[in-house]
Amino acid sequence: MAEFTGDSVVKVTDLVAGYLPGVNILNGCSIEARRGELIGIIGPNGAGKSTLLKAMFGLVKVHSGTVIVRGEDLTGLKANKLVSLGVGFVPQNNNVFSTLTIEENLQMGMYQRPKDFRERFDFVASLFPELAKRRAQRAGSLSGGERQMVAMGRALMMDPAVLLLDEPSAGLSPVKQDETFLRVHEINRAGVSVIMVEQNARRCLQICDRAYVLDQGRDAYTGTGRELMKDPKVIQLYLGTLADTA
Ligand SMILES: Nc1ncnc2c1ncn2[C@@H]1O[C@H](COP(=O)(O)OP(=O)(O)O)[C@@H](O)[C@H]1O
Ligand SMILES: [Mg+2]
Repeated sequence: MAEFTGDSVVKVTDLVAGYLPGVNILNGCSIEARRGELIGIIGPNGAGKSTLLKAMFGLVKVHSGTVIVRGEDLTGLKANKLVSLGVGFVPQNNNVFSTLTIEENLQMGMYQRPKDFRERFDFVASLFPELAKRRAQRAGSLSGGERQMVAMGRALMMDPAVLLLDEPSAGLSPVKQDETFLRVHEINRAGVSVIMVEQNARRCLQICDRAYVLDQGRDAYTGTGRELMKDPKVIQLYLGTLADTA
């Protein structure tokens, strides 16, 4: 077991991973989230951002490299095991059970620890009061933004040390995007480290503590959100004209 320095919540080192034998999508990717940090992951389409989160969550085969969570090597473990060890994941699509109610969706997040339901439900309700109010409503009848909150709430039920979010603002109206970023910020302030992949690069850099730019399966640049927003290379290659209004 690697030594736990106390500050590192997730440390991914030189990750090589892919879907097919001999075809690597991640080509030596390294990122770290320390306690309390909100980490952004940006980069062009196809850079491997979703693959990185899936590889961290045991859903894509890791060929080499390590995923260390709170000092423990969890590389290649299955998703259900990772959930019980403090890793939460909200995939980009199909992240709620539409035929189930909000409350049942949250119960699904807790199937490994049903006894703690009440306490965790209260925590999630403090972050998403509207979910608690509408707990009996079916998730399929909710808007995209509301479903995103149910998905985040479900992942938070297991009290994760780190929450992996894949493009939480995708497909939402600008107002709902802002609300989603605000919620992510609140989740982070409640003590959960967050690693958030975002297509809305500028907004992501505005709210995160640090970020990584992924390109062709590697971490090409890293820095604080503010630094990256001002970095001419990052602007030219990844932010384009969006950066002009920052
Ligand atoms: N299920 C899959 N099977 C095979 N290749 C995939 C699969 N999902 C993604 N890929 C490939 O992996 C690469 C990176 O994809 P992805 O991680 O989704 O990028 P991003 O999230 O940065 O847009 C792309 O070339 C994509 O075609
Ligand atoms: Mg993606």
